Amino acid sequence: MDRLVSPDRLNDEDSSLRPKYLKDYIGQTKVKEMIDIYIKAAKKRDEPIDHTLLYGPPGLGKTTLAQIIANEMGVDITVTSGPAIEKTGDLAGILTQLKPGEVLFIDEIHRLPRYVEEMLYSAMEDYSLDIVVGKEQTSRTIRVDLVPFTLIGATTRYGDLSSPLRDRFGVVERLDYYTVEDLKNIVIRTAKIYDCKIDYEASVELARRSRGTPRIANRLFRRIRDFASIIGDGDITLDITKKALDKLDINPDGLDFRDIKYLKGIVENFKGGPVGIDAIASTIGEEASTIEDVYEPYLLQEGYIQRTPRGRIATEKTYKLLNVSYGGLL
Ligand code: ADE
Repeated sequence: MDRLVSPDRLNDEDSSLRPKYLKDYIGQTKVKEMIDIYIKAAKKRDEPIDHTLLYGPPGLGKTTLAQIIANEMGVDITVTSGPAIEKTGDLAGILTQLKPGEVLFIDEIHRLPRYVEEMLYSAMEDYSLDIVVGKEQTSRTIRVDLVPFTLIGATTRYGDLSSPLRDRFGVVERLDYYTVEDLKNIVIRTAKIYDCKIDYEASVELARRSRGTPRIANRLFRRIRDFASIIGDGDITLDITKKALDKLDINPDGLDFRDIKYLKGIVENFKGGPVGIDAIASTIGEEASTIEDVYEPYLLQEGYIQRTPRGRIATEKTYKLLNVSYGGLL
């Protein structure tokens, strides 16, 4: 069960790895530049920063950035998520408890129920809530004033947000997959925090095989560290990194068995496509939304698949990867 407000959610990975200040946040240069200006300007005016929407694939640091914004503004942050807020009363409870200037972070904001979302409009726009009290004939609406606050919404699905909600965010920033260079620096930073030695070549190898995603790089780092402590002397070498990643079924380009299963599904079951998302989802036994949010964005960016109006198609790169001659299954 999701808890409504879940400070502990930040601990489901390793919160010690999360940078606390913008200067320690690696990569996403453009986004950082903009956020830095908005924070400084808001501070100068002594106002909360505008409502901010962060979108992009999972694991790129949306929550971390929200925490950094709160930290840099010197205010508290309340963390919740779209699916955790089921009733308007849940949202009213959270909003009425915010302290002036506080950040309310709503992860997966595209999953807010519509009637809850509608309640957010006036809260965002003029810091007020219209609450219906009483039953039927005797019901009436009372207006509740809120303190000024900043809503930070995060979503993997910008397109699923209704336009009234989208329009109420003054700041909208997209996070992109990290470069190998940035990921390598994140890996080196992680090694320092864990007080673990890692060879330069090993950090590059891990960065290359982390799907452009810090969350994946940090997770794999912990697995490789386990290997290093058992088959080596604890230091992470290139050799140990390669052995560990091979054992974990992470291919040299960072694709895992789920990516491969998806690509094989298209090539082997649908002759390389075009195939619709629901057909491929049921073939490989995954949720269509997981495929769309987690697997496809990276595979699209790296040119393994293309999306056409008639569905997904596997590219020549995928055929090469799977060792199937292009058009060979026709
Ligand atoms: N850990 C996760 N994401 C990070 C980032 N962008 N910069 C530094 N450390 C991180």
